[in-house]
Amino acid sequence: MKISPLVKPLLGVVALPGDKSMSHRALMFASLCQSASEIRHFGQGADNQATVQCLRALGVRIDVTGEDSYILPPAHFTSPRAPLDCMNSGTTMRLLMGLLAGQNIHATLIGDESLSRRPMSRVVEPLAQFGAQIKTERNHAPIEIFSHPLHAANVSLKEPSAQVKSSVMLAALFAENESTVVEPEQTRDHSERMMQAFGFPVRRDSKRVHVGSLKKRPEGFSFWVPADVSSAAFWVVLATLVPGSDVTIIDVGLNPTRLGFVDVLKRMGASIEMIVRGKSGGETWGDLRVRAVSKLLATNLVGHEARLAIDEIVVLAVAMAFAQGRSCIAGVQDLRHKESDRIESTAAMLRAAQINVEVKPDGLVIDGGRPQRAHIDAHGDHRIALAAAVLACAGSGAEIDGFDSASVSYGNFLPDVRRLSETSDHRGHAITVAIDGPAGAGKSTVARLLSQRLGYVYVDTGAIYRALAWLALREGIAMDDREALTRVAKNLDVRFESTAGQQRVLCGDEDVTTLIRTPQISQLASVVSQHPDVRQALLDLQRRLAGNGGAVLEGRDIGTVVFPSAQAKFFLDAAPHERARRRYDQLGGDKAAYEEVLRELSDRDQRDKSREAAPLKIAVDAVCLDSTALDVAQVVNEIERRVRAKERL
Ligand code: C5P
Repeated sequence: MKISPLVKPLLGVVALPGDKSMSHRALMFASLCQSASEIRHFGQGADNQATVQCLRALGVRIDVTGEDSYILPPAHFTSPRAPLDCMNSGTTMRLLMGLLAGQNIHATLIGDESLSRRPMSRVVEPLAQFGAQIKTERNHAPIEIFSHPLHAANVSLKEPSAQVKSSVMLAALFAENESTVVEPEQTRDHSERMMQAFGFPVRRDSKRVHVGSLKKRPEGFSFWVPADVSSAAFWVVLATLVPGSDVTIIDVGLNPTRLGFVDVLKRMGASIEMIVRGKSGGETWGDLRVRAVSKLLATNLVGHEARLAIDEIVVLAVAMAFAQGRSCIAGVQDLRHKESDRIESTAAMLRAAQINVEVKPDGLVIDGGRPQRAHIDAHGDHRIALAAAVLACAGSGAEIDGFDSASVSYGNFLPDVRRLSETSDHRGHAITVAIDGPAGAGKSTVARLLSQRLGYVYVDTGAIYRALAWLALREGIAMDDREALTRVAKNLDVRFESTAGQQRVLCGDEDVTTLIRTPQISQLASVVSQHPDVRQALLDLQRRLAGNGGAVLEGRDIGTVVFPSAQAKFFLDAAPHERARRRYDQLGGDKAAYEEVLRELSDRDQRDKSREAAPLKIAVDAVCLDSTALDVAQVVNEIERRVRAKERL
């Protein structure tokens, strides 16, 4: 694969595949439930496929439609007829060892050549403490697991490893009593968070993880997998390095144990904003907005911090190759046992680009400089392939042998880079964009991202009605007192301020951003917005905030009443259950709340559609988009494409 250096900035929004680690775990946890589960936005890479195939061979029914999967667990696993092929996936092999140790079955796990070279004793030893009977081929695959009852154990792991910890936790569920696991230092905690959220008997105190015996299997769950933050790291480094870039990576998993690389890059001078947007299965997710900086400074990445960023080390090494000064990475000897010996393959990659690198037993010393055109071998390692692509795009280009391995985690990287690079093609004149639609259709998320991409002002007109309702409530004005409401509306002073990627709503001198988002204010806003005089009084304010072109407005009557002459109009809709689910995910609420959210949305829709003044309806010249089956990036891309076309008219 030949890659040329980028000559244009990267601009826009990227949506990434679901997180690999969380997808593996969600599949295994679902296979231990007593009823069906649904996993959406599921990792598409070959590694996750390996877990799917192995679980199917154990009797789990898994139906996959695109990025969604439906998992129907069996009452008991059955001994597979053939060896379970974990292919290239270390997580599949190590977690399955724990999962299968106490299942009363006999199974053999095999892997491809590279996986078969990876050491397994670090998993076998702690599992043996539960009485597990596991045979290896001199510490390597093939691995044979025999049926044997497990007893509880208090395990102290010798080395920090999230895979080993998770494997032990899975085995502990099938021991007779409560077990504990102590790790020498904190590792990724997806298993703890997810198992707890899905109802498994797991809890963590400051020192150890407690895992109870699984007396009753939990009910199935519905889990939306946040995007893979380790894949996001390639974008974060690339957008930091390519001059003029401004990229927002959306819906990314923001688990704190995965974000070490963000701190490291910030320390080097990168501009990265993190915006939390919701929670799923105990995991926080949101956006990362990255803007290019003119220079990066060298840094040292050692010990615990380095180990927590283990999957991002290769791309961090690329950032260090562009930084001013000497950077050190130490304490990551584990890198030698990944898909390749990543210490050696990273060094070889950087040396090929004429960067001075010293190899240590547990890390690298990198002298930053100007990477030159290089010929790089990916060594069958997806992270080397992707990091080499970043190096090539941001530096002087490269020829990469074995780039195909990128598909293990992120096969679409180069097409995505091309798309965001082309977005920055010549601009036309700024126009007014109207986005209308019912509550929860995704208008505000889409309008915000679109305005960032276009460099437009974003006017959230719903926030204006909300601010009015909030002020009326505070001043004790009845919601049916038209005169008083109109008076307040005429003098309403609402402004928007954008800081750190967040839109803040100011009413007079007060920041009402969160105060106006309560369910009570949602309902009251839709009541005050019924009055024709109130709507009339707010027209001026909305038009003033939008100015003369270069604005994205979202609401209910933008294309029909506020800006009937808007050059680009969209009506964004989605099925009610999907809109309610999005709101509910955003609120990170509990199960009971879902019905309430659905009811609240239907009430408001009904009022907004049936009112006399400026009811919610589709403008004749609006483009209708049903986002039920689309993700945010798809909607933003579609709208942006049309707006760009109009800008050039
Ligand atoms: O969009 P959001 O949910 O914040 O809007 C709150 C309420 O404000 C809506 O339910 C609707 O009744 C009202 N609204 C409106 N016209 C707009 C924007 C919002 O009537 N342009």
